[in-house]
Amino acid sequence: MAQECDPDVESLFKCTLNVIYYNWEQVMLTRNIKKAYYSLTSPLMRINGILYRIFRAPKKGQVKVHLGPGKKNYLPGWINLDANLLTAKIDVWANIIDPLPFHNSTVDAIYSHHVIEHLPDLRSHFKEVYRCLKPGGAYRIGGPNGDMAIKKFMENDLEWFGDFPDTRRSIGGKFENFIFCRQEHLTILTFSYLEELMSDVGFVNIRKCIPIKETYQNLFQECLAFEFETDFTYPHTLLLECQKPG
Ligand SMILES: C[S@@+](CC[C@H](N)C(=O)[O-])C[C@H]1O[C@@H](n2cnc3c(N)ncnc32)[C@H](O)[C@@H]1O
Repeated sequence: MAQECDPDVESLFKCTLNVIYYNWEQVMLTRNIKKAYYSLTSPLMRINGILYRIFRAPKKGQVKVHLGPGKKNYLPGWINLDANLLTAKIDVWANIIDPLPFHNSTVDAIYSHHVIEHLPDLRSHFKEVYRCLKPGGAYRIGGPNGDMAIKKFMENDLEWFGDFPDTRRSIGGKFENFIFCRQEHLTILTFSYLEELMSDVGFVNIRKCIPIKETYQNLFQECLAFEFETDFTYPHTLLLECQKPG
């Protein structure tokens, strides 16, 4: 059920967005509705991000940033940033497409899980992450595993693919469903492509990790419990870590 709306004017804006975002995580919204949400809120998110950076972004101490937590993956002790004002549990309301609202070289660790495939320009994203990280700081990212999807497509392995968001019978249909997720995803994540982009902006120690089980950085230990994977030999999530040189 959609949430009921109070009739007063104060709640009108929130209520409108609430309707737009109704069950965002259960019901996949059309790209047009999502586009409308972003057109409506992008200028406000940009201003909010700028204000956060000026007045609240930490300049010292240990800083850990979680991009795109969604509703269920709020990480205590991390600065959780998301564009979804209503159903995501967040600390900073901002659009990852804008400059990240953190000062240069102030962040120890950045984590994103099933988020970057939604972004239109990964090169700019990695540049921004690099700018914000301290020397020696690390980025852990996960997203739909393009390498495995291609392998399983070639092997005609129907079982490997799930039924989210749609049920498809053919191997081609299942592949398309996994990779593009009703056109929510804008890119195919493969190790070689991510490695190319990361190394171009200066990252080093670019390594694959097994979801839930493996990290090269102590700071990411607390993220592992939030990850999901059913196949550790042929993981559905491509997980990588990289570091800004120390
Ligand atoms: C598929 S959910 C993943 C949620 C969670 N990280 C997980 O692994 O279950 C993608 C999340 O990224 C957020 N997101 C996508 N694009 C974004 C953007 N441009 N700016 C900020 N958040 C974004 C969405 O609002 C959503 O919460």
